[in-house]
Amino acid sequence: MAVRTLEIDGRTVSAREQETVLEVARESGIEIPTLCDMTGLSTVGACRLCVVEVAGVARPQPACLTRVSEGMVVRTSTPKLQEYRKMILELLLAERNHVCAVCVANGDCQLQDACAQLGVDHVRYEYLHPGCQVDLSHPLFGLDHNRCILCSRCVRVCDEVEGAHTWDMSGRGLGTRVITDMAQPWGQADSCTSCGKCVVACPTGALFRQGASVAEMEKDRSRLLRILVHREEKS
Ligand code: SF4
Ligand code: SF4
Ligand code: FES
Repeated sequence: MAVRTLEIDGRTVSAREQETVLEVARESGIEIPTLCDMTGLSTVGACRLCVVEVAGVARPQPACLTRVSEGMVVRTSTPKLQEYRKMILELLLAERNHVCAVCVANGDCQLQDACAQLGVDHVRYEYLHPGCQVDLSHPLFGLDHNRCILCSRCVRVCDEVEGAHTWDMSGRGLGTRVITDMAQPWGQADSCTSCGKCVVACPTGALFRQGASVAEMEKDRSRLLRILVHREEKS
Protein backbone atom coordinates (compact mmCIF):
# COMPACT_ATOMS: atom_id res chain seq x y z
CA MET A 1 0.00 0.00 0.00
CA ALA A 2 1.57 3.27 -1.12
CA VAL A 3 1.77 6.09 1.35
CA ARG A 4 1.33 9.74 0.44
CA THR A 5 2.62 12.70 2.41
CA LEU A 6 0.75 15.95 2.25
CA GLU A 7 0.18 19.13 4.21
CA ILE A 8 -3.16 20.07 5.73
CA ASP A 9 -3.45 23.42 7.49
CA GLY A 10 0.32 23.57 7.91
CA ARG A 11 0.60 20.06 9.35
CA THR A 12 2.47 17.30 7.57
CA VAL A 13 0.31 14.16 7.48
CA SER A 14 0.62 10.70 5.96
CA ALA A 15 -2.18 8.99 4.07
CA ARG A 16 -2.95 5.83 2.16
CA GLU A 17 -3.06 6.52 -1.58
CA GLN A 18 -6.79 5.80 -1.95
CA GLU A 19 -7.86 8.06 0.91
CA THR A 20 -9.72 11.31 0.46
CA VAL A 21 -8.69 14.62 1.97
CA LEU A 22 -11.73 14.40 4.26
CA GLU A 23 -10.72 10.99 5.61
CA VAL A 24 -7.14 12.06 6.25
CA ALA A 25 -8.23 15.31 7.88
CA ARG A 26 -10.54 13.40 10.22
CA GLU A 27 -7.82 10.92 11.12
CA SER A 28 -5.57 13.88 11.92
CA GLY A 29 -8.17 15.55 14.13
CA ILE A 30 -8.86 18.35 11.63
CA GLU A 31 -12.57 19.02 11.43
CA ILE A 32 -14.13 19.82 8.07
CA PRO A 33 -17.89 20.48 8.09
CA THR A 34 -20.03 18.02 6.13
CA LEU A 35 -23.71 17.31 5.57
CA CYS A 36 -24.12 14.74 2.81
CA ASP A 37 -21.18 12.59 3.87
CA MET A 38 -21.80 9.57 6.09
CA THR A 39 -19.07 7.08 6.92
CA GLY A 40 -19.90 3.70 5.39
CA LEU A 41 -22.07 5.08 2.58
CA SER A 42 -20.97 5.93 -0.95
CA THR A 43 -19.81 9.49 -1.52
CA VAL A 44 -21.87 11.79 -3.73
CA GLY A 45 -20.53 15.31 -3.10
CA ALA A 46 -24.01 16.79 -2.89
CA CYS A 47 -23.72 19.50 -0.24
CA ARG A 48 -20.34 21.10 -1.04
CA LEU A 49 -19.94 22.11 2.60
CA CYS A 50 -16.63 20.25 2.81
CA VAL A 51 -14.85 22.41 0.23
CA VAL A 52 -11.13 23.01 0.77
CA GLU A 53 -8.44 24.95 -1.02
CA VAL A 54 -5.76 22.90 -2.77
CA ALA A 55 -2.59 24.75 -3.79
CA GLY A 56 -2.38 25.05 -7.57
CA VAL A 57 -6.10 24.35 -8.11
CA ALA A 58 -8.13 27.43 -8.96
CA ARG A 59 -11.49 26.43 -7.48
CA PRO A 60 -12.33 25.03 -4.03
CA GLN A 61 -12.58 21.23 -4.10
CA PRO A 62 -14.93 18.96 -2.11
CA ALA A 63 -12.74 17.20 0.46
CA CYS A 64 -14.99 14.12 0.44
CA LEU A 65 -14.32 13.48 -3.26
CA THR A 66 -10.71 14.67 -3.53
CA ARG A 67 -8.09 11.93 -3.34
CA VAL A 68 -4.79 12.72 -1.65
CA SER A 69 -1.65 13.08 -3.73
CA GLU A 70 2.03 13.37 -2.90
CA GLY A 71 3.05 16.86 -1.85
CA MET A 72 -0.51 18.20 -1.88
CA VAL A 73 -1.02 21.37 0.17
CA VAL A 74 -4.54 21.78 1.55
CA ARG A 75 -6.18 24.53 3.53
CA THR A 76 -9.50 23.74 5.20
CA SER A 77 -10.52 26.88 7.02
CA THR A 78 -9.63 30.13 5.25
CA PRO A 79 -11.95 33.17 5.52
CA LYS A 80 -12.96 32.59 1.88
CA LEU A 81 -13.95 28.98 2.57
CA GLN A 82 -15.86 29.90 5.71
CA GLU A 83 -17.75 32.56 3.74
CA TYR A 84 -18.50 30.05 0.98
CA ARG A 85 -19.81 27.53 3.54
CA LYS A 86 -22.00 30.18 5.14
CA MET A 87 -23.44 30.98 1.74
CA ILE A 88 -24.25 27.30 1.13
CA LEU A 89 -26.02 27.03 4.46
CA GLU A 90 -27.98 30.25 3.92
CA LEU A 91 -29.10 29.02 0.51
CA LEU A 92 -30.27 25.74 2.06
CA LEU A 93 -32.23 27.65 4.68
CA ALA A 94 -33.79 29.95 2.07
CA GLU A 95 -34.75 27.10 -0.27
CA ARG A 96 -37.19 25.30 2.06
CA ASN A 97 -38.98 26.11 5.31
CA HIS A 98 -36.60 25.54 8.21
CA VAL A 99 -38.37 26.85 11.27
CA CYS A 100 -36.31 25.30 14.06
CA ALA A 101 -38.66 26.43 16.83
CA VAL A 102 -41.41 24.15 15.50
CA CYS A 103 -39.20 21.34 14.16
CA VAL A 104 -39.12 17.94 15.84
CA ALA A 105 -35.34 17.79 15.26
CA ASN A 106 -34.66 21.05 17.10
CA GLY A 107 -31.47 20.39 19.09
CA ASP A 108 -30.59 17.23 17.14
CA CYS A 109 -30.12 18.59 13.62
CA GLN A 110 -26.83 18.60 11.74
CA LEU A 111 -27.93 21.57 9.61
CA GLN A 112 -28.63 23.54 12.78
CA ASP A 113 -25.26 22.45 14.20
CA ALA A 114 -23.40 23.53 11.05
CA CYS A 115 -25.12 26.92 11.12
CA ALA A 116 -24.13 27.39 14.75
CA GLN A 117 -20.52 26.34 14.10
CA LEU A 118 -20.18 28.69 11.14
CA GLY A 119 -22.01 31.61 12.73
CA VAL A 120 -25.02 31.68 10.40
CA ASP A 121 -27.38 33.87 12.41
CA HIS A 122 -29.31 35.37 9.50
CA VAL A 123 -30.02 34.67 5.84
CA ARG A 124 -29.04 37.20 3.18
CA TYR A 125 -31.16 35.62 0.45
CA GLU A 126 -34.83 35.83 -0.28
CA TYR A 127 -36.80 32.99 1.30
CA LEU A 128 -38.56 31.00 -1.38
CA HIS A 129 -41.29 29.62 0.92
CA PRO A 130 -42.09 26.65 -1.33
CA GLY A 131 -45.36 24.84 -0.68
CA CYS A 132 -43.89 21.56 0.57
CA GLN A 133 -45.92 18.53 1.66
CA VAL A 134 -45.72 16.37 4.75
CA ASP A 135 -46.24 12.63 4.23
CA LEU A 136 -47.63 10.88 7.30
CA SER A 137 -48.90 7.81 5.46
CA HIS A 138 -46.30 5.44 6.98
CA PRO A 139 -47.51 3.95 10.29
CA LEU A 140 -44.21 4.64 12.09
CA PHE A 141 -42.39 7.43 10.29
CA GLY A 142 -43.03 10.78 8.65
CA LEU A 143 -41.46 12.81 5.84
CA ASP A 144 -41.49 16.60 5.93
CA HIS A 145 -40.20 17.96 2.61
CA ASN A 146 -39.91 21.41 4.23
CA ARG A 147 -36.83 20.21 6.13
CA CYS A 148 -35.19 18.19 3.36
CA ILE A 149 -31.77 19.36 2.15
CA LEU A 150 -31.50 16.71 -0.61
CA CYS A 151 -28.37 15.17 0.88
CA SER A 152 -29.48 11.69 -0.32
CA ARG A 153 -28.33 9.95 2.85
CA CYS A 154 -31.77 8.28 3.04
CA VAL A 155 -31.46 7.09 -0.56
CA ARG A 156 -28.02 5.62 0.01
CA VAL A 157 -28.59 3.98 3.40
CA CYS A 158 -31.81 2.35 2.20
CA ASP A 159 -30.14 1.08 -0.96
CA GLU A 160 -26.63 0.27 0.22
CA VAL A 161 -27.28 -0.97 3.76
CA GLU A 162 -30.90 -2.13 3.98
CA GLY A 163 -31.03 -3.22 0.33
CA ALA A 164 -34.61 -2.03 -0.08
CA HIS A 165 -34.03 0.90 -2.45
CA THR A 166 -37.25 2.58 -1.39
CA TRP A 167 -35.96 6.14 -1.80
CA ASP A 168 -35.03 8.05 -4.90
CA MET A 169 -34.78 11.64 -6.11
CA SER A 170 -37.30 13.04 -8.55
CA GLY A 171 -37.53 16.37 -10.39
CA ARG A 172 -34.96 19.04 -11.13
CA GLY A 173 -33.55 22.13 -9.50
CA LEU A 174 -35.86 23.69 -6.93
CA GLY A 175 -38.50 21.09 -7.80
CA THR A 176 -36.34 18.16 -6.71
CA ARG A 177 -37.96 15.95 -4.08
CA VAL A 178 -37.14 12.65 -2.41
CA ILE A 179 -39.70 10.01 -3.34
CA THR A 180 -40.59 6.51 -2.18
CA ASP A 181 -40.94 3.69 -4.72
CA MET A 182 -42.83 5.09 -7.74
CA ALA A 183 -43.61 8.40 -6.00
CA GLN A 184 -46.56 7.00 -4.09
CA PRO A 185 -47.07 7.85 -0.40
CA TRP A 186 -44.43 6.24 1.86
CA GLY A 187 -47.08 4.09 3.56
CA GLN A 188 -47.87 2.49 0.20
CA ALA A 189 -44.24 1.81 -0.73
CA ASP A 190 -44.11 -2.00 -0.76
CA SER A 191 -40.30 -2.09 -0.78
CA CYS A 192 -40.01 -0.41 2.65
CA THR A 193 -39.15 -2.84 5.46
CA SER A 194 -39.82 -0.20 8.16
CA CYS A 195 -36.27 -0.66 9.47
CA GLY A 196 -35.92 3.04 10.25
CA LYS A 197 -32.34 3.39 8.98
CA CYS A 198 -33.27 6.31 6.72
CA VAL A 199 -34.80 8.17 9.67
CA VAL A 200 -31.61 7.81 11.69
CA ALA A 201 -29.39 8.73 8.73
CA CYS A 202 -31.34 11.90 7.93
CA PRO A 203 -29.36 14.90 9.21
CA THR A 204 -32.41 17.13 9.70
CA GLY A 205 -36.03 16.82 10.76
CA ALA A 206 -37.12 15.77 7.26
CA LEU A 207 -37.49 12.14 8.34
CA PHE A 208 -38.83 11.51 11.82
CA ARG A 209 -40.53 8.97 14.01
CA GLN A 210 -44.23 9.68 14.32
CA GLY A 211 -45.42 10.60 17.78
CA ALA A 212 -41.92 11.43 19.05
CA SER A 213 -41.56 14.68 20.93
CA VAL A 214 -38.53 16.93 20.42
CA ALA A 215 -36.93 15.41 23.53
CA GLU A 216 -37.55 11.87 22.25
CA MET A 217 -36.45 12.55 18.70
CA GLU A 218 -32.72 12.21 19.26
CA LYS A 219 -31.40 10.00 16.46
CA ASP A 220 -28.91 7.37 17.55
CA ARG A 221 -26.55 7.93 14.65
CA SER A 222 -23.66 6.33 16.53
CA ARG A 223 -25.44 2.95 16.39
CA LEU A 224 -26.05 3.32 12.68
CA LEU A 225 -22.45 4.44 12.19
CA ARG A 226 -21.20 1.33 14.02
CA ILE A 227 -23.19 -0.86 11.60
CA LEU A 228 -21.87 1.09 8.61
CA VAL A 229 -18.25 1.02 9.75
CA HIS A 230 -18.51 -2.71 10.49
CA ARG A 231 -19.84 -3.35 6.98
CA GLU A 232 -17.17 -1.17 5.43
CA GLU A 233 -14.47 -3.08 7.29
CA LYS A 234 -15.87 -6.41 6.09
CA SER A 235 -16.12 -5.32 2.44
S1 SF4 B 1 -37.50 2.35 6.84
FE1 SF4 B 1 -35.75 1.12 6.04
S2 SF4 B 1 -36.60 0.16 4.19
FE2 SF4 B 1 -38.05 1.78 4.73
S3 SF4 B 1 -37.38 3.53 3.52
FE3 SF4 B 1 -36.30 3.69 5.49
S4 SF4 B 1 -34.31 2.63 5.21
FE4 SF4 B 1 -35.67 2.05 3.49
S1 SF4 C 1 -35.04 13.21 3.65
FE1 SF4 C 1 -33.29 13.63 5.02
S2 SF4 C 1 -31.73 12.13 4.42
FE2 SF4 C 1 -33.23 12.22 2.76
S3 SF4 C 1 -32.39 13.71 1.30
FE3 SF4 C 1 -33.80 14.84 2.65
S4 SF4 C 1 -32.50 15.62 4.31
FE4 SF4 C 1 -31.31 14.03 3.26
S1 FES D 1 -19.65 16.34 2.54
FE1 FES D 1 -18.49 16.72 0.74
S2 FES D 1 -19.94 17.53 -0.62
FE2 FES D 1 -21.14 17.06 1.14
